[in-house]
Amino acid sequence: MSAVRAIGLTRRFEATLAVDGVDITVAPGEVRGLLGPNGAGKTTLLRMLFGLIAPDAGSVELLGREFDGLGGEALEAVGGFVEEPAFYPYLSGTANLELLARLDGGPSTAAVRDALAKVGLEGRGHDRVAGYSTGMRQRLALAAALLRAPHLLLLDEPTSGLDPAGTQAVTALVGNLAAEGVAVLLSSHQIGELERICDSYTVMRHGRVVWDGSAAELIAAAPASAYALSTSDDDGALRVAAGHEGVRAGWAPGGALALSIEADRLDAFVLALGDARIAVRRLDLLASPLETMFFALTA
Ligand SMILES: Nc1ncnc2c1ncn2[C@@H]1O[C@H](COP(=O)(O)OP(=O)(O)OP(=O)(O)O)[C@@H](O)[C@H]1O
Ligand SMILES: [Mg+2]
Repeated sequence: MSAVRAIGLTRRFEATLAVDGVDITVAPGEVRGLLGPNGAGKTTLLRMLFGLIAPDAGSVELLGREFDGLGGEALEAVGGFVEEPAFYPYLSGTANLELLARLDGGPSTAAVRDALAKVGLEGRGHDRVAGYSTGMRQRLALAAALLRAPHLLLLDEPTSGLDPAGTQAVTALVGNLAAEGVAVLLSSHQIGELERICDSYTVMRHGRVVWDGSAAELIAAAPASAYALSTSDDDGALRVAAGHEGVRAGWAPGGALALSIEADRLDAFVLALGDARIAVRRLDLLASPLETMFFALTA
């Protein structure tokens, strides 16, 4: 049984085809990253999975249950949020979570305290949400999602607005939940963060899926990686690059060379520099496979 199985999801807003025939599946325990430029359709897709908006076409199954309307049954054991989740600003974080827990049929002070602690809001639960910072609201939203003891988490940019420690805490939390079998679908613009936690990726552009596969498939399919290169003779290195198949080089800001090279050609190129009596002083990977793939697919 898949945690998410959506087929042919389509949604139009007047002239905009926001989501156009998207298939997406997420297995239990899988963390799937949803990527795409602004306006690609990520939030619209997540809204349809949540039943916040109805698709014009396509079907959604969450945790094995067919989804045939807005809200209700199919959302049991599904947690998460899209864009900025709303809370009652004049109530405290704890009071907001208790309200939500009651809606889910059982306020539990211990569960609320536990959820607040998991997102690092312990000690701030009794402050009014109106006085929370952006990151604190984001953490509270995550706490609300955890409160449901979800088997499936749908998270739209869960780390936007979080400080580095918060981002790290969220990625660790997602990893732990996945290890317990929770399926996670999360959108993000922070590629480095996605690379640390995702098992698989769906890349969207103009409402369509332009790439879908596992992290290993992505690394295999990624185009040439980008490096910054400093040598004892950069002009000479440029000449060597010009005569070397599969290598493109040019000047980068700051005086180093920018190199675009396929992973399996790197060794030969470095050896060719050695043959030309050019010493490599630094070679830094500038763009990871997911980054180069993302730009190749969406540029
Ligand atoms: N309620 C709406 N009314 C009209 N157009 C909408 C609506 N919601 C989304 N759209 C349009 O649908 C397209 C996809 O938007 P969506 O918010 O899903 O993108 P996104 O991938 O989440 O982008 P971002 O990275 O900026 O969050 C955009 O062109 C957007 O303008
Ligand atoms: Mg969005």
